[in-house]
Amino acid sequence: MKFGFSSSPADSLACDLFALPVFDDQLLAGDVFTHLDRALAGLLGRLIDEEQFKGKKSQTLAVHTHGKIGPQRIVLLGAGPRASFDIAEVRHLAGRGARAAKNAGARRFAFGFGGIPTDERSVQLATEGTILGRYRFDRYLAEDAKKPDPLESITFSTDGAACQESWMTAVQRAEIVANATARARDLVNEPAGLLTPRRLAEEAETLAKQFSLEAKILGPTECRALGMGMFLAVAQGSDEEPRFIHLTYRPKGNPPKRICLIGKGVTFDSGGLSLKPSAGMEDMKVDMSGAATVLNAITALAQLGCPYEVHAIAACTENMPSGKSYKLGDVLRSMSGKTVEINNTDAEGRLTLGDAITYAVKLEPDELFDFATLTGACMVALGPNIAGVMANDQPLADRWLAACRQAGEEAWQLPLPERLKEQLKSEIAEMKNTGDRYGGAMTAGLFLKEFVGKTPWVHVDLAGPAHTDKEFGAIPKGGTGFGVAAIVEYLAPRASSS
Ligand code: BES
Ligand code: MN
Ligand code: ZN
Repeated sequence: MKFGFSSSPADSLACDLFALPVFDDQLLAGDVFTHLDRALAGLLGRLIDEEQFKGKKSQTLAVHTHGKIGPQRIVLLGAGPRASFDIAEVRHLAGRGARAAKNAGARRFAFGFGGIPTDERSVQLATEGTILGRYRFDRYLAEDAKKPDPLESITFSTDGAACQESWMTAVQRAEIVANATARARDLVNEPAGLLTPRRLAEEAETLAKQFSLEAKILGPTECRALGMGMFLAVAQGSDEEPRFIHLTYRPKGNPPKRICLIGKGVTFDSGGLSLKPSAGMEDMKVDMSGAATVLNAITALAQLGCPYEVHAIAACTENMPSGKSYKLGDVLRSMSGKTVEINNTDAEGRLTLGDAITYAVKLEPDELFDFATLTGACMVALGPNIAGVMANDQPLADRWLAACRQAGEEAWQLPLPERLKEQLKSEIAEMKNTGDRYGGAMTAGLFLKEFVGKTPWVHVDLAGPAHTDKEFGAIPKGGTGFGVAAIVEYLAPRASSS
């Protein structure tokens, strides 16, 4: 895709579709808007009245210009009140605009920043939005049902303001982030019948080759030798073999830090013998979203020349009911040596993650992260779009949350109250795998914490934001690739500081 910048007046831009965010309290006052309206002899103003376009976030207004000015079409994107506007929303505005361009079959798309400050950050977010807003998982659609996307060029218009050279660097960074996010979406969207643990491991090996990473894939025999009793117990009910994936990125020179990123890799979660009802199982191919996120984030980090040594780790398995399934009441011995009594086989994620954490801790990382579609309770607490963050190190949690904010990925911290550990007490083992219904996101976090030891650690429960059934801005329905942008924001510092 060809990206460019233009400081010419918006009405002279030669393009098929020009998208322009408009604040609700600035409807007729915005400079670009005024220029366009004047060039169209007041047509825009009249249409806005007729269509009752008020610049609300939910509103979009498309206008044909019939060759009167440079842009063939103008699409006004309601941006809501300016006072409460967050720059991170630029990704979604650009996503809406780019999707409109795709639907219109545009070859040349232009996006105006309107009254939004144009700098490296907004350019990066806008670029990500133009790529991610057009994303579709159309692999299995009939050829004639696939929406063609003839887009050739994307121009960011400043309508008069000077463009900076550093903006092109922001575009390149954004392309890397967005493409990695799109690849993560592809993995999440791929049906579980096809994306088995073995296939996921093959995908990881392909990524490793493509991006010059080290790849280590362990099968069940090797996992047994390492004592991964919890991971293997989850896997034993399935006819599909588990795979333990470990990719490594080593930068040139002496890295100042070693980082481990663990992703939950349950390729299908039926619940096991604690079988989920059909409706609860319907979307459970997304239960490997954490793995998709870390396996693709590490490729972006390699492309951006991240200064840290980074490990992406995923214990991949199905969770299935069968005559071989692990049972309620079973006592498992984890890789750490801790014994765990099973009171719900649907709390499988924490078992696979617990052993992955023990494996990661042996690498002696400076910081350890895990990303997991771990609990429905986290969605009850924070709704369907916000990730839950839990940590054993507050300064680390603060740095991580700041990166999420900067990247425009919503996350909110939950506590890890020691008192709730009581829920995990077992009479016959060191702990149980499941607590009560209330506080379920936190008892899951507390369970994981038992395997972390002193390593600074952040747990990200992305059960909500990993997928969506409502299109929103740069996020179409399905897998979202949540976390890739925040990880890159956290681990790949920009060359120039802004
Ligand atoms: N994979 C699910 C969590 C989940 C739910 C992810 C909805 C995405 C959307 C997880 O393995 C699970 O089943 N958790 C149980 C835990 C319970 C048994 C303690 C849950 O949330 O119900
Ligand atoms: Mn489950
Ligand atoms: Zn699960």
